[in-house]
Amino acid sequence: MFPAFAFAGIIARLWNPFCGKEAAVTFPMPSPSPFSSRVQAHIRWMIRRDMPEVLDIENESFEFPWSDEEFLRCLRQRNCIGMVAEIDDKIAGFMVYELHKTRLHLLNLSVGARWRRRGIGSQMVQKLVSKLSQQRRTRIVLEIRETNLAAQLFFKVNNFRAVSVLRNFYDDTPEDAYVMQYRYVAPAEELRKAA
Ligand SMILES: CC(C)(COP(=O)(O)OP(=O)(O)OC[C@H]1O[C@@H](n2cnc3c(N)ncnc32)[C@H](O)[C@@H]1OP(=O)(O)O)[C@@H](O)C(=O)NCCC(=O)NCCS
Repeated sequence: MFPAFAFAGIIARLWNPFCGKEAAVTFPMPSPSPFSSRVQAHIRWMIRRDMPEVLDIENESFEFPWSDEEFLRCLRQRNCIGMVAEIDDKIAGFMVYELHKTRLHLLNLSVGARWRRRGIGSQMVQKLVSKLSQQRRTRIVLEIRETNLAAQLFFKVNNFRAVSVLRNFYDDTPEDAYVMQYRYVAPAEELRKAA
């Protein structure tokens, strides 16, 4: 059994900034086919032998994909976590994020092209949201390319809001990044207990 990637860190942001440019013009995406349906994914920690499938998804998703080495360099850091979404033992999507004191920083999230618009991306976001709490980490933040409109819409639907603009954030293109943020809202019961 390979060890889980619960490794850490400072990201590959310099080499390959988060939420890379999509491989093809995908906006507006066609509406989901009337035959497509929601699927329930099993979300678990990424392990080393997942890498070939993860790289396939990365390569079909971004114009400037992370390399194998960049994934490993990131996931070796102690605060960097990789997770995959599995359907019938096949990897349909993955995400990579960093743990910080009061926030989670989502560095990469991608769903294989054939699995999109079936709720898998949202399930991974929900998994992240489930890690937030009033006492500890209260926010998820990410940077997204200004041209990646499909992903901006996806995160908006998942209750992220744009909070700032980072001018000329990327080395590979002159575009800006939008910082998007999800804020934890404590359920009334949790607030009552904390009072
Ligand atoms: C963005 C991405 C992760 C979404 O994953 P997904 O599994 O298709 O998302 P979901 O099925 O959970 O979509 C939830 C909602 O988000 C919105 N949405 C998702 N993709 C969209 C698109 N291409 N265009 C417009 N809205 C979109 C829709 O409202 C959708 O609900 P609907 O299908 O009922 O209309 C996926 O398109 C992807 O991997 N893109 C390439 C990589 C990328 O850009 N990642 C993000 C930056 S790191």
